[in-house]
Formats: sequence, C-alpha cells, structure tokens
Amino acid sequence: MNGPVPVEVLKQHLIDPEICIRCNTCEETCPIDAITHDENNYVVRADTCNGCMACISPCPTGAIDNWRDVLRAEAYAVDDQLTWDELPVQDDALAGQGTIGEASAGAAGGASGASGASADSSEPVIGGSDLVRGSVVPPWSAAKPYVNLYNHKAPVQATVVGNYRVTDASTESDIHHIVLDFGKQPFPVLEGQSIGIIPPGTTADGRAHHARQYSIASPRDGERPGYNNLALTVKRVTKDHQGQAVGGVCSNYLCDLKKGDVVNVMGPFGSTFLMPNHADSHLLMICTGTGAAPMRAMTEYRRRRRMKGATGKLMLFFGARTQGELPYFGPLLNLPKDFIDTNLAFSRTPGSPKRYVQDAMRERAADVAALLRHEHTYIYVCGLKGMEDGVLQVLQTIAGEAGLDWQTLWQRMKTEGRLHLETY
Ligand code: A2P
Repeated sequence: MNGPVPVEVLKQHLIDPEICIRCNTCEETCPIDAITHDENNYVVRADTCNGCMACISPCPTGAIDNWRDVLRAEAYAVDDQLTWDELPVQDDALAGQGTIGEASAGAAGGASGASGASADSSEPVIGGSDLVRGSVVPPWSAAKPYVNLYNHKAPVQATVVGNYRVTDASTESDIHHIVLDFGKQPFPVLEGQSIGIIPPGTTADGRAHHARQYSIASPRDGERPGYNNLALTVKRVTKDHQGQAVGGVCSNYLCDLKKGDVVNVMGPFGSTFLMPNHADSHLLMICTGTGAAPMRAMTEYRRRRRMKGATGKLMLFFGARTQGELPYFGPLLNLPKDFIDTNLAFSRTPGSPKRYVQDAMRERAADVAALLRHEHTYIYVCGLKGMEDGVLQVLQTIAGEAGLDWQTLWQRMKTEGRLHLETY
C-alpha cells in the first residue's frame, strides 16, 4: 500500500528589505554566489543557498538572518523578492517544519537563475566558512556594541553641527567631514561601527530612498569629547564605476548639508569591526580614501586613552591619489611620531612612481613582521575592494620572509577577531 507522499518544507533564507542597508557585504561573503541584488533589494537564490551561514555574522544590521518555512516547490523566487518592501508573513501551517538546504532548481531561480553550484544540504557551518577572509568575531576585549536601535520606520533625527571639506580645494576629490549631533536622544557608538543615512525624496519609480551606510569617523565619547555627536567622512560621488557622470543621491545630499539641517539616521550597525580595549594591544591599520574613517575613530580614541596609560603601538598605511586628495592630511601629520607610525602612499603624484599601500608595507616589512609576531596585534583594512587581495598578498610575503607560516597565522588571526576587512 502506498503511504502519503512527504511534503518537503524548506527553511528558506531571506533578507529583510526593511532593515537591509544594501552594503553588499552578504553578496561579497557568500562563497557560492547565492546572493544577488538589483537597485531595489538584496535577495537569496533558494535554489543555490545551502545554509552555510558564512554571510550571517558579517551582516552589519542582521537583515540577513531571516528565514521562512515554505513548501520547497513554492519557494519565493528571486523575481518576487526583488519587488518586496517587507518580508512575507510566515504561514503558520508550515512554521517550524523547514530544513535548510537549497530548493530544486526551477522552483525558485527567477530571472537571475541558478549559479550552477551543487552544494550539499549539509549542516550549517556556524561562525563562517573558510572562504571568509576576515574575522567574523570582534576582538575579545572589544566593548559590547549597541546595534539597530533605530530603523527606517523609526529613525532618529540628528542635527548637522559641522560640514567641511577635508581634501585640498584644488583637487577633484570632494571629501567632507560631517558632524551630526543627537542631542538628548541615545545614540551610543563604538569606533568601527557605521550608521545609515536616509536621504529625503524618492526614486524615479516613487519608492522611498533606501539608507546608505557610512563608517563613523569619531570615537565613542563623541567627535567633541563628552558630547553626543559623531563624525562621518563622505566622498561626493560624481561618477559611477565606469566613469559615467552620475550624482550620488546620498553623498551629494550629505556634502551639501548646512549647519542646523536635520538628518534621518538608522543604526548603529556593526558588531565585529571593533577595536580591542586592552591597553597594550597594537593596531595595524591599512586604508584608502574614505576608508580612513574608522582608522581616524580608533586613532583618536587611542590618543585620548594614551593620556590614561594605553601603551600599544599604532601603525598606519594610508593610500590616496595625491597628497591633496588624502582626507585629514594636515591633522594626521600633526600626530606625534612616537604615538603613530604613519606611512602614506600616493599613486598619482606627478613625476613620482605609482605607490600603493602594499608598496609602503613592503618597504616597512621588518616592522610589519614584528607586529605580525605579536599576539596582541589587530589588523584593520578599509577602503577600495581592489586593495584587499594586494594587502593579503603582501602580508603573506612579509610573514613568509619572517619565517611565519601565513596560513596558520591567518586562520588564527581570523578566529581571534584580529583581522578585519571592510572593503567596497
Ligand atoms: P589609483 O591611482 O590607481 O586609482 P580613490 O581615490 O579612487 O578612492 O583611491 C584611493 C587610492 O587607492 C588611490 O591611490 C588608488 O590608486 C589606490 N588604489 C586603487 N586600486 C588599488 C589597489 N588594487 N590596491 C591598493 N590601492 C589601490
């Protein structure tokens, strides 16, 4: 006698469009290309996702950690997900019955289609996959961050108390230092965290703009010590990646703000790219352009703590096209040499050879190696996506030349929350 046909229920991985700040972290992290996006949403291909969980920890907002139990054959297609403004409600009849693992192709592929990956529907790998290159945990001594105190439905209003350019007026690169004050509203932050800014107005098809993410450039106790304010480092976007003229919606909005203007803010976000609190920890910071924001925050916090006895070393590698395009050039050079070891790399100085941060690191190999040997060294990389490979490559070379086994050290630094990568 035939028994009843089992109904397969999938625990479908979804991204909450209401919380997602479209930072691309999940898509970059996914080892099997199960995540895609359009100008509206980031979505998960049900026929590809194998529930490896690599994307869960790096997501700054937690938007990635959403699941719905659905009939496998009726998994939400990519095309549907791309139109969502909010997640669908869970069907009570299926709740709690789903198992993780990709749905059969065809049920959920949608326009973007399947990637062809054929991962097993294996147990999730909690804590991230080997293909994730940086830490998905914070330093052991990091302070506990607050996250998601405000979302796009209930943002907090901050007042602009400062907005000025931090690149030379003669250069094309218009980078602004913008200070936002939260008054009496709670907005606790840590160095390395980010916030979301919701630009006013709507897109061409009448939807509200989604929030854009910016790293905080000031320390936890305020841009001005003891004040409930923070700073951002924002580059005015005037061209797209192909060099075509475009006006970046949020960056232009922010760079044009005047003192007294009120801004809608979400967040704070981020629970891993945080600095160690123990006073003898060393910071090796590598950045380009506006990737300087978290480095400025950490450096300034250490500078304020130094007076209270922090002893760890700070070494900075900072790349820009020219001296004039390096944000905060003047203040950076005013920091005492015995406090921070600053190394600048300029790629487009007329008459000088092109230099990237990796080249500067190579030149300082002995000192970088000394830091790599130290178990209290924490590495932070922030800026252009392209530099990530180059920086990891030069770290490998420097480690190798110093007799360190980079593969072992890399794994160790990752699991100990000592290698943080944030590139875009
Ligand atoms: P480049 O002159 O080749 O563009 P940007 O001004 O676009 O934000 O870039 C900041 C700096 O990072 C520039 O000096 C830029 O050099 C440099 N850069 C570009 N690609 C890489 C890379 N793959 N590795 C390191 N630095 C890079």
